[in-house]
Amino acid sequence: MRWVCRGGLPAWLRCGFVFPVQAHVSRRWVQNCSGTLFTTPIFYVNAGPHLGHVYSALLADSLHRERALRDCATRLSTGTDEHGLKIQQAAEAAGKAPYQFCSEVSEQFRAVFNHTLISYTDYIRTTEEHHKRTVEKFWTVLSERGYIYKGVYEGWYSTPDESFLAESQVMGIQDKQGNVIKVSTESGHQVHWTKEENYMFKLSDFRPLLLKWLETHKQAIYPENFYQIVLQWLQEDLPDLSVSRERSRLKWGIPVPGDSQQTIYVWLDALVNYLTVAGYPEAHHSWWPAVHHVVGKDILKFHAIYWPAFLMAAGLAPPDHIFVHSHWLASGQKMSKSLGNVVDPMDCCDQYTVDGFRYFLLRHGVPDRDCDYYHEKVVQLLNAELADALGGLLNRCCASSINSTQSYGFFSSSCFPDKHNCFDKAASARAMEEDYQLIEFVENLPTEVQARYEKCQIYKALEAIDACVRLTNKFFQRHTPWKLDSTNPVEKLWLDTIIYVTMECLRTYGTLLQPVVPSIADKLLSRLGVAQNERTLKDFLFLARYHGKYCPFEGRELGPDTGVLFNRLDQNKSRKTKDPSIPKL
Ligand code: MSP
Repeated sequence: MRWVCRGGLPAWLRCGFVFPVQAHVSRRWVQNCSGTLFTTPIFYVNAGPHLGHVYSALLADSLHRERALRDCATRLSTGTDEHGLKIQQAAEAAGKAPYQFCSEVSEQFRAVFNHTLISYTDYIRTTEEHHKRTVEKFWTVLSERGYIYKGVYEGWYSTPDESFLAESQVMGIQDKQGNVIKVSTESGHQVHWTKEENYMFKLSDFRPLLLKWLETHKQAIYPENFYQIVLQWLQEDLPDLSVSRERSRLKWGIPVPGDSQQTIYVWLDALVNYLTVAGYPEAHHSWWPAVHHVVGKDILKFHAIYWPAFLMAAGLAPPDHIFVHSHWLASGQKMSKSLGNVVDPMDCCDQYTVDGFRYFLLRHGVPDRDCDYYHEKVVQLLNAELADALGGLLNRCCASSINSTQSYGFFSSSCFPDKHNCFDKAASARAMEEDYQLIEFVENLPTEVQARYEKCQIYKALEAIDACVRLTNKFFQRHTPWKLDSTNPVEKLWLDTIIYVTMECLRTYGTLLQPVVPSIADKLLSRLGVAQNERTLKDFLFLARYHGKYCPFEGRELGPDTGVLFNRLDQNKSRKTKDPSIPKL
């Protein structure tokens, strides 16, 4: 089916018509634009960074970058968790002074985050003086408000999890030597019986308040399955929590204010990092509680129960959102040092490029369930989506055989008339029903992507972008522009229109992909001639000329970099791996 416009003037000259979807999109963006502090967990420095850590950071990074793209105030904090028994033991095992040991590993995390383009605005270490002061202040507030008392704690403790466990949370198993040992049912880590005088936090007081908070904030925890898990935990008794350890056992930590014989529990110390970054106790009001925590499922209880309870006890609101993600397995197995299958993010970047690695993790990582990481899958996905679909599309519309003027193309409303503003079919109209569907999909894409980001479903945002890239390739294929004769003025109009529409689609994808693949998006947008200050989503207008508006890109000269957007990866190239159980290809 084809349509024709009233009158002969280009639509953007005739009327100031704004397509309703776009008007709606712009309003939404402005409304939702308030400051947000995104946080990653702070990482234990007992071992170096691996793929799972980078995934936590990448999720938060892309959420933060997406906000910035909409011109919203946003911060991203990350850093390292440096106190506690397991760090103390790891430093001892390495024969290093704890601070020296922590500094070295913390720098490794920072280097990996810099390399993987995590655009953090704050990097916090819990050994920093200003954090110590914040923790002391926070402790004092809890204590003054009557939520801390001294008692005797007797129960199981898991050092690898730095966690106290009830009898119902442990089970007996046989170790390699045949001895019966107790382990945490959840993590499988060995637990030890502990009895000592500790300070206790009145966690039990907060069960009704936590339930109320979750009832009234149904979107506080995403995805929904984790929200349900927390509700389930809250159906059971919530015993008071030990929040200190005897200094004789744990020296590496912040002493309890006013009691040098006790050290503050590492999880209380660690969680307060978010307030330190926000500027507590003086300057946190501009960011708190507009905080979005990204956390792995293994640390959900600390963030969704202990942390909101600590905050409420201190007279502060719980965070706006907790985004939870599941874990990456390596070829079906849990990653662990003992199995030797820990995936090194630096190796991955060498093999797949930084953007390739980022794209794979965010495109393939599904927060609600564990995901498997293996080389063949990475190569297949990146070749199909980045090299062939996206890179291929850019190549096709920039090829000098088709795009002889090396420009953005020109739009002809007689070839591609406005579907909503036409009353008759015209011979010059070339656009088909599928083409109108394509532009409708792409027009809605920014709204859809934003909605996905709001639920931390980045994989779905990328899936939607990829689907549109494929439709655009089909559009190009359907109209076989390489068969059009550019010396024929009528065919030239249509050829230019095909190029313009394709480039407008590509500009939309490039803009929306910036939070995930910043370098590729930069290359793509630069090739299209899109300037740095034209790359945000604020006032973004797709296919302006179709809507009768002025388009600054129309006819613009293409950027000079003709390089390949993403080089195809070789499936057979041997992968660097530390896992002997994964066969080399
Ligand atoms: N130090 C605590 C967090 C304190 S936050 C106040 C901690 N550190 S961690 O280094 O053990 O883990 C940091 C993050 O990495 C967690 O979100 C955890 O879920 C994530 N991952 C660790 N292994 C992982 C995978 N295999 N896959 C995905 N993420 C995983 O916990």
